[in-house]
Amino acid sequence: MTTALRKSAVFYFTIITGISSCFCTDVNPEENPEIPAIAKYFSTKGRYEEVNPYLIEDILAVNRSILQPPSAQCRQIHLTAVIRHGTRYPTTKNVKKMKKLYDVVQGSNVSNRNWLRELQNQWRMWYTEDMDGRLVQKGVNDHKHLAVRLSKLFPSLISEEKLRGGFIKFITSSKHRCVNSTLSFKAGLTELWHIKDMEFDHAVNDALMRFFDKCTRFLEEVDNNPSAVTEVEKFKQGPEMRRVQQKIADILNVPYSAITDDMAEAAFYLCAYEFAIKTVNSPWCRLFDEVDAQVMEYANDLKHFWKRSYGYDINSKSSCILFHDVFSRLEKAAKENMSGQQVAEAVTVQVGHAETLLPLLTLLGFFNDSEPLTSTNFAAQTRRSFRTSHMLPYAANLILVLYDCGGGDLRLQPLLNEKPVTFPGLADQASMPLYPDVLQHYRDLLQGCDFETECQLFKQPAEV
Ligand SMILES: *[C@@H]1O[C@H](CO)[C@@H](O)[C@H](O)[C@H]1NC(C)=O
Ligand SMILES: *[C@@H]1O[C@H](CO)[C@@H](O)[C@H](O)[C@H]1NC(C)=O
Ligand SMILES: *[C@@H]1O[C@H](CO)[C@@H](O)[C@H](O)[C@H]1NC(C)=O
Ligand SMILES: *[C@@H]1O[C@H](CO)[C@@H](O)[C@H](O)[C@H]1NC(C)=O
Ligand SMILES: *[C@@H]1O[C@H](CO)[C@@H](O)[C@H](O)[C@H]1NC(C)=O
Repeated sequence: MTTALRKSAVFYFTIITGISSCFCTDVNPEENPEIPAIAKYFSTKGRYEEVNPYLIEDILAVNRSILQPPSAQCRQIHLTAVIRHGTRYPTTKNVKKMKKLYDVVQGSNVSNRNWLRELQNQWRMWYTEDMDGRLVQKGVNDHKHLAVRLSKLFPSLISEEKLRGGFIKFITSSKHRCVNSTLSFKAGLTELWHIKDMEFDHAVNDALMRFFDKCTRFLEEVDNNPSAVTEVEKFKQGPEMRRVQQKIADILNVPYSAITDDMAEAAFYLCAYEFAIKTVNSPWCRLFDEVDAQVMEYANDLKHFWKRSYGYDINSKSSCILFHDVFSRLEKAAKENMSGQQVAEAVTVQVGHAETLLPLLTLLGFFNDSEPLTSTNFAAQTRRSFRTSHMLPYAANLILVLYDCGGGDLRLQPLLNEKPVTFPGLADQASMPLYPDVLQHYRDLLQGCDFETECQLFKQPAEV
């Protein structure tokens, strides 16, 4: 509890002196007090601005020189973007957990700390179960702004002419938050170009954007199989998590048994949602110091690791259908350009979920640490690359851009959340490898990775 005590001492100091600087080491006076110090640990409940902080100043800022094509001749000929929906309300399940915690706080006998009294007397439980994960206004803006930034970053592809000409295609998951994100992305473009005389279609395609619901083997072996997440459960019952729960119980002055792991999670969500939805640094955030937040982040990362990523091979293989969809479009665009035809589908925008993006990123080999995440290696994993807070905030996006650099020199550039990344295993070619080298690198997946085959439930051969 030392940090919490230190923070309230700082708070006291601020009140009596009226000066908001302080002498402690864990509060940076440069930091924006509107932003919770723990905001970079919100996992899939994090703001997009936290992974690209320059957007806090200017939400439409882009820096085209990050693309760094190898020659001035390079022209963009096709772009595919796989994008997560924008900021949303909590799901019904999480609202229920948040209510339980709120009731505990209401019934507790808190000390005279101001922020605790604020939680008890002023803060109102405004989340309702019928919010059901719907897109919020901030989520509408996430996609509108992303659309405008991408049109500035790729002006020859995401252009008014291409949109009007039908060269930009939209595909979405059927979930309302994804459909609304798609509508928002389109509105970002039509408002930018003042297009009022045309409307643009989108296709709803759950086979592509919610493949995880259709993959029997994934459903049986992982999604509906409690033993698939034993590492997550062990961590939630383990010493790091227990310490976080006990600290919250101490602050709220309730018995340790009153704060379950679900309630600690609910408190963390309350802080995250108040910030993502309303840009408010709420008193809920003060229940956690930075290490507590890292523990909560790790619990989330563990869950995603075992349920959607490297934990089981079928997790990434369930995205084979989307993988082939993306690469067949690249192939078609490459062939069209090579044979002197116009590229018919210049841009494809595909809107889905964190659960859509993560298996695909995994299949492509991104964020593959040498050691798996387990219930016992929280401390050893502090430098892991597998961080959902960095990978999967609201409106997270994987973009693949095909370039023709002259004389049939095709290149493929991957960007994650608008930053160039390198295909794992192709690092020697920096961020714009030769397209044939990418095909060669993924040849086993391109020749195999058949959704139907991978997702079948095999019968193990009887033991001899
Ligand atoms: C834009 O990106 C380039 C290359 O990464 C960098 O050198 C430059 O400082 C950036 N400019 C701004 C304004 O951020
Ligand atoms: C609340 O705490 C104070 C001081 O710790 C104590 O005097 C009081 O009896 C407590 N009230 C209840 C309802 O537990
Ligand atoms: C999302 O779409 C539904 C209809 O599908 C509409 O009722 C709702 O208002 C939309 N929400 C937002 C935030 O645009
Ligand atoms: C193929 O790409 C190159 C480079 O952008 C471009 O000059 C050429 O016009 C393209 N061909 C067609 C038919 O679009
Ligand atoms: C991830 O890394 C492990 C070894 O560290 C390797 O065996 C595996 O093939 C990698 N997975 C992918 C998809 O690249």
